[in-house]
Amino acid sequence: MKISIINGPNLNLVGVREPAIYGNRSLASYLDELVTRYPGVEFELFQSNHEGAIIDEIQRVGFDVDGIVINAGAYTHYSIAIGDALKAVTAPAIEVHISDVMAREPYRRVSMIKESCRGVIAGYGLDSYRRAVDAIITGCFPAEK
Ligand code: DQA
Repeated sequence: MKISIINGPNLNLVGVREPAIYGNRSLASYLDELVTRYPGVEFELFQSNHEGAIIDEIQRVGFDVDGIVINAGAYTHYSIAIGDALKAVTAPAIEVHISDVMAREPYRRVSMIKESCRGVIAGYGLDSYRRAVDAIITGCFPAEK
């Protein structure tokens, strides 16, 4: 099984950026450990601060992997293009967020990509990623969007 984990803008600064919201641990170190917990899964890890690069990556992996875990960062809230890219490929995607976006500013409650995803997992800190990986492996996608 192959799973792609795609991270958008500013997620390279998790651990440093707004620790009260995103925590003190770097995303890279968390994902390195996560990967070791699933020896039977081949992971593709990708992060970019650029919308087009994220779209290129979705197109590159999206017909090959068994699932995409995507935290599009702020692009979640306004990128129709990333939503379209996720719709265009065959791999099922899960939208994830570290923070509870529904409990934050009103503009973070809007997702332009959720309709292209099989579910949303948000607000569990970095564990949101593990939950999304488990959902893809088990095929039990989150019921609510
Ligand atoms: C985020 C939430 C977004 O609103 C924000 O722009 C981010 C991170 C999260 O993981 O909680 O960059 O996607």
